[in-house]
Amino acid sequence: MGMTDVIGKICADLEVEARRNQPMRHFTSLKTGGVISCIAYPDTREKAAKLVHALDEAGIAWSPLGYGTNLLVKDGEIQRVAVSLRLLEDLLVFDGTRVHVHAGYSLPRLVNACADRGMSGIEGLAPIPGSVGGAVKMNAGSHGYEIADAIETVDIARAGKVVTLERGEIDFSYRHSPFTSRELVLGITLQLKPGAPEEIKAEIQQYRKHRSATQPVRDNSAGCIFKNPGNGVTTGRIIDELGLKGMTHGGATISPLHANFIVTDGSAQAGDIFSLIDVIRTRVAEERGIDLELEVEVWE
Ligand code: EPU
Repeated sequence: MGMTDVIGKICADLEVEARRNQPMRHFTSLKTGGVISCIAYPDTREKAAKLVHALDEAGIAWSPLGYGTNLLVKDGEIQRVAVSLRLLEDLLVFDGTRVHVHAGYSLPRLVNACADRGMSGIEGLAPIPGSVGGAVKMNAGSHGYEIADAIETVDIARAGKVVTLERGEIDFSYRHSPFTSRELVLGITLQLKPGAPEEIKAEIQQYRKHRSATQPVRDNSAGCIFKNPGNGVTTGRIIDELGLKGMTHGGATISPLHANFIVTDGSAQAGDIFSLIDVIRTRVAEERGIDLELEVEVWE
């Protein structure tokens, strides 16, 4: 059996919806990327756990696909299965100051729902587009908030089973979680604090306003391309100081508004973005002696 037949059989046996040969530009905020072998949509957490385990056993590469808002996919053929959790039941369960939510849920929707209920602790995450699972995987943060700070437990798929981990067992750091490529984040429980909904909403509004003033929110992008290197150094400021804003390769441009963003137009290829990444890395290494690390996830 060829790879596509094996994928088809695994998905059919588990009753998981599978869509073959999907153009990744339709599933990424950068609107670039080639054609992936398959996107699979398990509709329960148990099916998701079994699916990724079966793919591992069969030696088939897979990756979680959230909303594609922090993802750079190469051009051409991508031989792997993207696992989307968007079809998981619309689970958002409030329990006192806790909220339980599945990984396919939208992060901004989660923050809004908590604000409506007068639950505080993740306001700064409101302007981050993306899924809850993606936010956990990369420990997304903004305005001094990190999702890890509010996490009580994380449910993951491990060896075919759904396993719940306590926050203390999980070693989060800046834009990093310790989950391996064989583990899939399925859901989280957050521990929040009570607050006045109007105050929480006002704070969120302030962050959204700041974000639209300082970042190219109306353009296609994947957010910041590189991590900040630490010690208070800002990658955006360095790229700006090196005069690289506005540099264009094909349909990709270093944002004139925020230099750590690459924005694309409809004609962009992933290759255009990779070229700009190379230019930035080389110049920053030569002139500042800093080896920039990518913040976006890359599928090659
Ligand atoms: N700056 C420049 N030129 C630029 C961009 C920034 O001089 O082109 C300067 C700003 O004026 C400011 C400093 O650099 O003095 C910091 O800029 P900013 O406040 O925009 O923060 P950042 O460090 O560039 C980080 C996160 C963002 C997050 C913001 C707001 C990283 C890599 N980036 O950006 O996260 O939204 O703080 O909290 O940690 C993302 O993760 O994709 C992302 C956009």
